[in-house]
Amino acid sequence: MADNSLKTSNPAAGQARRVLITGVTRGLGRAMVDEFARLGHVVIGCGRSAKIIGELQAGFGAPHRFDVVDVASDTEVQAWAAEVLTSHGGPELLLNNAATINRNAALWRVPAAEFDAVIDVNIKGVANVIRHFLPAMVKVERGIVVNFSSGWGRATDAEVAPYCATKWAIEGMTRALAQELPRGMAAVPLNPGIIDTEMLRNAFGDAAGSYPSAQQWAKQAVPFLLRIGPKDNGRPLTVS
Ligand SMILES: NC(=O)c1ccc[n+]([C@@H]2O[C@H](COP(=O)([O-])OP(=O)(O)OC[C@H]3O[C@@H](n4cnc5c(N)ncnc54)[C@H](OP(=O)(O)O)[C@@H]3O)[C@@H](O)[C@H]2O)c1
Repeated sequence: MADNSLKTSNPAAGQARRVLITGVTRGLGRAMVDEFARLGHVVIGCGRSAKIIGELQAGFGAPHRFDVVDVASDTEVQAWAAEVLTSHGGPELLLNNAATINRNAALWRVPAAEFDAVIDVNIKGVANVIRHFLPAMVKVERGIVVNFSSGWGRATDAEVAPYCATKWAIEGMTRALAQELPRGMAAVPLNPGIIDTEMLRNAFGDAAGSYPSAQQWAKQAVPFLLRIGPKDNGRPLTVS
């Protein structure tokens, strides 16, 4: 566990935001935890790896909050949302980051269970989180929803058809959601770029090493995420 003594600074009054991030145990989610907390924001996160969630809880402490939740389970997300909405209130920035990718294979060689898992996490997981957290945000007509998409949500490649299917779905689902929100809120699909994470290693192998680390990415991405506002509602964005 890294030294967290510098992880929380004091932003000017009124600037600290409650940021909910799914999939915080590694990769982009883990790097965003460090960066949002370092900038003085309150992070609420989840993932399935109990050991890492325990380390995050111990390392960051209150007011940050980390829970073991499988976003693919509507009942787990429902219970988590009830607790978080009581302890923290609704998120001001909701980042649907958790996702999984199929092992590289032609579509007809992807086993049914693996295809289902990609759909369950990447599409249904996002809908589960929206179902249980968004009502509190809509009630106060405030908050930003960022659904992590991909370059493979706007283009395609061989051997990642299940993943492409889910990220194209995220683009459509998010833009439709944007049309349902009250003024003052926003929902956007976000292509984070190409970053050296476990997911990228699964798809690219060692070639992933030529891309930026999640920590480097987060330095640029977190300020970008904090700038997303109602003016962006429904716009497909790319971290730049
Ligand atoms: N890396 C890239 O170049 C790239 C490019 C385009 C888009 N993206 C998108 O960016 C996001 C983050 O990707 P990444 O590269 O950081 O992936 P990653 O390294 O594989 O990390 C994925 C995170 O999601 C969590 N997760 C997976 N299934 C979950 C579930 N059912 N419930 C809760 N948490 C779950 C994982 O934690 P547990 O295993 O502990 O649950 C992990 O913390 C994804 O949406 C991905 O599609 C990444």
